[in-house]
Amino acid sequence: MIISPSVLSADFLHLHQEVKSIEATQAQWLHYDVMDGHFVPNLSFGMDILKSLRQATSLFLDVHLMISEPARYLQAFLDAGADLVTFHYEAVAEDEIAHLCDIIHQHGKKAGLSIKPATPVEVVLPYLEKLDLVLVMSVEPGFGGQRFMPLSLDKIRSLKAAIQQGAYHCLVEVDGGINDQTAIEAKESGADVLVAGSYVFHASDRQAAVASLL
Ligand code: DX5
Ligand code: ZN
Repeated sequence: MIISPSVLSADFLHLHQEVKSIEATQAQWLHYDVMDGHFVPNLSFGMDILKSLRQATSLFLDVHLMISEPARYLQAFLDAGADLVTFHYEAVAEDEIAHLCDIIHQHGKKAGLSIKPATPVEVVLPYLEKLDLVLVMSVEPGFGGQRFMPLSLDKIRSLKAAIQQGAYHCLVEVDGGINDQTAIEAKESGADVLVAGSYVFHASDRQAAVASLL
């Protein structure tokens, strides 16, 4: 199990120490939520802060683009140091998906595709061969601290079954409302990567919080 703490719930005034505190846990990834106030009703951070994080850490940078027209900014996030770039199925035209994956792969980075809670998992299946990861949103994207939506568990299960059936090298990531309880359900359903924002960053003992998700 890979744990990807989301910096959206970090103390932004002390971002460097916050990242160091995650390095001291068993988490291998750091999740970076980009919001544009258009695809989602909230704003977060762009590529410059990612660039600073890249200089501060060797954690795997898991960039989640919750933005319209991701093609416009893809290059900038790759240049800023993303290891994986995930864009949303709902934000692109169907015929763009393979091309965006190719751009990411040409940079030697990993490509992910995400679906919102209302989007059926079937839409990603034609792209599994191209994808390194599918991100199943278990809350409406836009805000940390929301409650996990159990309907995502069926999506995780059928996605995992399709990946195993095709013997694809594609990870299943789950994002939103993950805590020590929902982590068990997500894991049992087939998740490989768990994103956790508030559960990890608001914990008094972050090492224990991450360990409880493994
Ligand atoms: C929500 C973001 C999540 C968020 C998760 O739109 O994509 O990554 O940080 O936060 P928690 O774990 O608090 O639900
Ligand atoms: Zn996210």
